[in-house]
Amino acid sequence: MAFNFYEGVSVQQLQKIEREVGPFYYYNTSLLYQTLEAIKKELSETPHFHVHYAIKANANPELLKLVREAGLGIDCVSGGEVQRALEMGFSPKGIVFAGVGKSDREIRTALQAGISCFNVESLPEMEVINDLAKQLNVKARLAFRVNPNVDAHTHEKITTGLHENKFGLAMEDLIPAIRLCNELEAVEYVGLHFHIGSQILDLSVYEALCNRINEIQLQLEAEGIHTQSINVGGGLGINYDHPDQNPIPNFNAYFKVFKDNLEVRNGQQVHFELGRSIVAQCGALVSSVLYVKQGHTKNFLIVDAGFTELIRPAMYGSLHFTENISAEGAPTAHYDIVGPICESSDVFAKDYPLPSSQRGDIIVFRSAGAYGEVMASTYNCRTLPQTFTTEQINK
Ligand code: LLP
Repeated sequence: MAFNFYEGVSVQQLQKIEREVGPFYYYNTSLLYQTLEAIKKELSETPHFHVHYAIKANANPELLKLVREAGLGIDCVSGGEVQRALEMGFSPKGIVFAGVGKSDREIRTALQAGISCFNVESLPEMEVINDLAKQLNVKARLAFRVNPNVDAHTHEKITTGLHENKFGLAMEDLIPAIRLCNELEAVEYVGLHFHIGSQILDLSVYEALCNRINEIQLQLEAEGIHTQSINVGGGLGINYDHPDQNPIPNFNAYFKVFKDNLEVRNGQQVHFELGRSIVAQCGALVSSVLYVKQGHTKNFLIVDAGFTELIRPAMYGSLHFTENISAEGAPTAHYDIVGPICESSDVFAKDYPLPSSQRGDIIVFRSAGAYGEVMASTYNCRTLPQTFTTEQINK
């Protein structure tokens, strides 16, 4: 049966909310639940695989509840994210913490909570973690983020695993870093961490990553270094063009690449940090048409949402599948869909086909559950968008 994103809510309900609160995020919690079930099914076959949801993709408490109930851990990149995960009841034992610029305060928060692992990105960072852990009389578990120089073939602003990126340690620094780690008293080497980029659809990229990890493991073993855990990061992409065709990403194919290609040692644990692939398709930005403006050569559809609510089109040039759910069946027209922000980059799409639209129609930007709400801003003194789940709308 064809997937219907709007099952569980009506156009009238969405329209009524939009009239009251302006542009808002709608979260289809049933889709998120099913997505999490699909991941759980894969993990049930490989008990040494662990998924830490990348909370940076969406930290909405309603979604985090479902993620927690599914038993996933959390991947954080700031002290605020660690705090949010703890407040939402995630066990510190499932929390990993990455980021090139962890502040002393953030490191202390994580040490006091007793998180499972710091993904360390430089030698000076390791020394600071060691000093702070010593002061708190705890031992920190460290994984070193290695820059594997594997090209993720994705947008330049979201590719991270190449030599010229700011992330991770260069390969030649890895063995000296592990040696130093073993000498310091308040840190312990547990593993390797990688993350090569985001919105990766070509799974052969992950095969290349596995091959690289296999080589690195052999090099470490030749030096007598044993690695407990391998964290391969996140990055699995989603179908922005046809969100209804692939509402749940193919996790089976994704995990299979690692099952088939990563040479896992006895007792070794493999960690994943998936963000977008878990939450993107369950979220949509709901807006309404303010004005239809006839230009010389084109028509503008001016909506009440802008890059303050969804920055991805302005920042990465990304295109979100867009629907007019009020005018279905009307003859098609082409519009430049733009927001109200006083910047010429506030454009969602150019020359986009939609049913002929009028003031008040509801325009929905799909696949906005990841890096949507979390990247919203108050530029132009706008208010942050409200959010509603299927349950909240129907209660
Ligand atoms: N692990 C690390 C260390 C990361 O830096 C990221 C994302 C992830 C995991 C999760 O990646 P995912 O599975 O979501 O691809 N704002 C951009 C995406 C930035 C991704 C940053 N890092 C966007 O809207 O496309």
